[in-house]
Amino acid sequence: MNVLVVKANNRPASEGVSSKMYETFMENVEGVNVTTYDVFAEDMPYFGQDLFNAFGKVQSGEEMTDVEQRILAAKQKAMDALTAADVVVFAFPLWNLTIPAKLQTFIDYVYQAGFTFKYDENGQLVSLMTDKKAVILSARGGIYSTPEAAPMEMAANYIKNVVGGVFGMEITNEVIIEGHNAMPAQAETIITEGLEKVAAVAKSLSGVTA
Ligand SMILES: Cc1cc2nc3c(=O)[nH]c(=O)nc-3n(C[C@H](O)[C@H](O)[C@H](O)COP(=O)(O)O)c2cc1C
Repeated sequence: MNVLVVKANNRPASEGVSSKMYETFMENVEGVNVTTYDVFAEDMPYFGQDLFNAFGKVQSGEEMTDVEQRILAAKQKAMDALTAADVVVFAFPLWNLTIPAKLQTFIDYVYQAGFTFKYDENGQLVSLMTDKKAVILSARGGIYSTPEAAPMEMAANYIKNVVGGVFGMEITNEVIIEGHNAMPAQAETIITEGLEKVAAVAKSLSGVTA
């Protein structure tokens, strides 16, 4: 079984709680092929006209600029990583109510008609990644699990809508660590309990064959 871990925080694990979730997952998973796609370490030009120009030049054979070559290669690398995975683990923080921009760029690279979804003859969206499973690992300093605050949360909600709702992956596990900034007195307990859940998820994947 191939596990792809999309790591979306470059803060050290001693500071970033979602970095610690990534580290805990990696320390506890074994017996499967694990690959990390580190969005902060990859060369990932922002999605936009450079990519569309590059597509045009693939057709025309015209020479590409440096950024056009880089974005085309980066997009292909992200798509290949997803294709090879049976399970995709997303480890990310809530920053400013949403995901880090580098993770957004990863999503932009793989969110493509004909690759992760398509439209059928009736115009209905058809998910193309239904053979894959996804695991959500996310941390947020405030509390967003209450009915009033949940709609403001656009990190875990966004990733779940994309990979579950559009791509069709089965979300098998979700570990959210939340409230450690809002409730500093309980922070240690909240984080410790969350990391135990991350370790349990990693162990549950260990040695499982696809
Ligand atoms: C740049 C930045 C923006 C943040 N924005 C929010 C936010 O909008 N809401 C919130 O509850 N916590 C926010 N936090 C706190 C994080 O959610 C908290 O640190 C959590 O553990 C996830 O980030 P981390 O993995 O980097 O620690 C923010 C933290 C940083 C560093």
